[in-house]
Amino acid sequence: MRLVIGLTGGIGCGKSLASQYFSELGICVIDTDVIARTITQPNGKAMAEIKTVFDISYLTKDGALDREKMRRLIFSDKNARLRLEKILHPIILSETVQQVACAHSPYVVVVIPLLFETKDYDTIVHRILVIDCDEQQQISRVMARSNLSEQQVKSIMATQVSRKERLQKADDIITNNQDADYLKTEVARLHSKYLSLSNQCSDAGV
Ligand SMILES: Nc1ncnc2c1ncn2[C@@H]1O[C@H](COP(=O)(O)OP(=O)(O)O)[C@@H](O)[C@H]1O
Ligand SMILES: [Mg+2]
Repeated sequence: MRLVIGLTGGIGCGKSLASQYFSELGICVIDTDVIARTITQPNGKAMAEIKTVFDISYLTKDGALDREKMRRLIFSDKNARLRLEKILHPIILSETVQQVACAHSPYVVVVIPLLFETKDYDTIVHRILVIDCDEQQQISRVMARSNLSEQQVKSIMATQVSRKERLQKADDIITNNQDADYLKTEVARLHSKYLSLSNQCSDAGV
């Protein structure tokens, strides 16, 4: 069985950048956010069900999910969020399983921003890697990347599990408070560790 690393962390902590570094080392990276976007494109696998559950005004002209409009709805309407998640989560999970099965690198990294918020991934992830950074860095990185206000970033952070809980559940942690080169070095350190763990997995025939 191939070793599967679940990579997670709060918004803006550096998940995408860290996963890019794993990918540059030749590791297959599966990103559940990318899958979520793909299945909500026109004719994406989630669109038929979305059309039956939500008003047509939540679709763009070409038949994709209007992500901006849906984001606004689910932020204020918990039931709508649950209905959307009920559609998306099983499809994202099955796409992830399929992509893991097709992967050819010694181990696989699956980026799962909501790893702790959804229980779906317990059965496919062997180790949890948390990309962590202090909250002030997190806020300023997200503000620099998007046009959200500090208050908006904080309200998104409030919907995610606490930093403390995330760190408690981690098998491995990268503290991303320094520059990008440091992050890259930390990814390389874990890459060596995961390569040796994946050798042990294949030696044991699992
Ligand atoms: N160590 C770092 N030094 C400088 N910029 C960083 C560092 N880590 C992440 N960033 C930048 O901060 C922003 C958030 O990082 P990103 O990887 O997109 O976070 P996430 O995917 O966890 O939301 C991005 O613009 C990214 O390029
Ligand atoms: Mg990201």
